Amino acid sequence: MIPMKTPLSRAIAIALFISAGALAIFLAVGNDINQTKNRTSGEALVGGAFELTDHTGRRVTDQDFRNQYLLVFFGFTNCPDVCPTSLQAMTETMELLGEKATKVRPLFITVDPERDTAALLASYVANFHERLVGLTGSPDDVKAAASAYRIYYAKSEGGELNGEYTMDHSSIIYFMGPDGKFLTHFTHGTSAEKMREEMSKFL
Ligand code: NI
Repeated sequence: MIPMKTPLSRAIAIALFISAGALAIFLAVGNDINQTKNRTSGEALVGGAFELTDHTGRRVTDQDFRNQYLLVFFGFTNCPDVCPTSLQAMTETMELLGEKATKVRPLFITVDPERDTAALLASYVANFHERLVGLTGSPDDVKAAASAYRIYYAKSEGGELNGEYTMDHSSIIYFMGPDGKFLTHFTHGTSAEKMREEMSKFL
């Protein structure tokens, strides 16, 4: 701190203090605006073309799901916690939606195509809502779908042991419109009741 001996140095110190404060506020607000802008434009870009194989072994594209609202979640069947919890919350949401659920198609897209075959997905999705569709494909198919939805995934660092590994992945649940456009998203931990409430605004 500068010793304040004279009124002039004190005045300069105060002026510096005020401008530093103003600059900090300006930067904070600017940063907030940038984040909001990025988030909005980022969300607008979520979704897009994909071509995958569903749990019955049929090749499907995003076009096959037009005219339905989509609840899209990426994960893997071997996931111990986050994926089953999210899929359970999606299932409960569908039950809470009642009749409106017929307009919604929940999708579970694997980020682990090496292990998650269509047959494995078929037995896995049977644990959740009857409308849930499991999707897999070649590693490139999955990479393209994940990239369209801005989903990060990777084999867990040092996780491979005797051929066993786990996957790190984003755990966002996207709610998409019948035109394939982004409507809103939920995070891991959003309650089924909250999802029902938000989705009902669109359904
Ligand atoms: Ni998971």
